[in-house]
Amino acid sequence: MAWRITCRELGGVGLACTDLLSPQGLLISQETSHRIAMTNELDRPVCMQLYGSDPEILAKGAQWCVDNGAQVVDINMGCPVDKITKKDGGSKLMCDVDRTFDMFEQVRAAMPGHVPLTAKMRLGWDHQAKLDDVASTLAVGLCERGAAMITVHGRTTKQKFKGACDLDGIKRVADSIRAHNPSIPVIGNGDIKSADDVIAMMHHTGCAGVMIGRGSFANPWLFRYAWALQQRVIDKGIDPGDADAVGAINLNDIHPSEDEKLDMLLGFFDRMIEYRDSHHARHVFRQKANMLAKQINDGHCRPLKNALREATSDDELRNAIEHWRIHGDN
Ligand SMILES: Cc1cc2nc3c(=O)[nH]c(=O)nc-3n(C[C@H](O)[C@H](O)[C@H](O)COP(=O)(O)O)c2cc1C
Repeated sequence: MAWRITCRELGGVGLACTDLLSPQGLLISQETSHRIAMTNELDRPVCMQLYGSDPEILAKGAQWCVDNGAQVVDINMGCPVDKITKKDGGSKLMCDVDRTFDMFEQVRAAMPGHVPLTAKMRLGWDHQAKLDDVASTLAVGLCERGAAMITVHGRTTKQKFKGACDLDGIKRVADSIRAHNPSIPVIGNGDIKSADDVIAMMHHTGCAGVMIGRGSFANPWLFRYAWALQQRVIDKGIDPGDADAVGAINLNDIHPSEDEKLDMLLGFFDRMIEYRDSHHARHVFRQKANMLAKQINDGHCRPLKNALREATSDDELRNAIEHWRIHGDN
């Protein structure tokens, strides 16, 4: 939640999405599920993502999401984690497309017509499924049943996060959807770490947009870089397939100042306290100090990273950031 809002404020995010949510958890008011679904006015538009395979429970979960502020509801068909797939959720839904079509149809029918229902998937369960192009079959079938957008991650379930993200695989799914209905946007996902990667993904696959996960943790300004780069590629009439010309575009005016970066750290910390508690906020800073401080002074800030890791109170952590603001490495 805190990171969704922070990234939105930093510019360029078109649609934020929650982590996957258990519809059962939402319906029985389980604390963890409600916490993950938490949203507010800054976090708009927001998509809530559900997992599972039971059509009735998913339909009720989708209604819960709509009642609690979701502008878009997504069904996760890509999660490779055993805990989810063993219960027939996540990417296991790619293994029985007919059953998944029935489920999707029921959820769509139970939701208010004006709220888009979308799906996120992988390229298939394993290499053979990828060769059989199960993802295109599933994606096109979902579009026939009212899916408003499809997101494709360029790996199979078996790959989890190993190996390269397969842009050709994403392109195949995007081409299949376009042949069926060119007005349904396809979103490409996987390994986007820079604004150049965004241009390359969109150019190579023909996707209408990209979803960014891990890259935004290390660089929450990635969205605004990507937005600015896209505008400049268009304005300057540069061929998006010319990686050298794209890479040469000057984005210096987009760089956040060191003050802005430190303000982002403080804001993120305060939001985590607001939406959770200070114990959790300090735990995240302890665990992820290297990643959070990666942008500060180009990552050369060992004393700050150590202080973020070792702070024993909220004030100590805030003071460490302010101390770095004034004194830097001295
Ligand atoms: C820690 C972690 C949690 C994730 N949770 C979700 C999730 O709840 N729902 C989802 O659709 N994808 C989830 N993903 C997958 C990402 O959305 C994304 O598909 C994947 O990380 C590849 O994109 P990236 O290279 O931009 O990170 C998760 C990934 C990671 C590393």
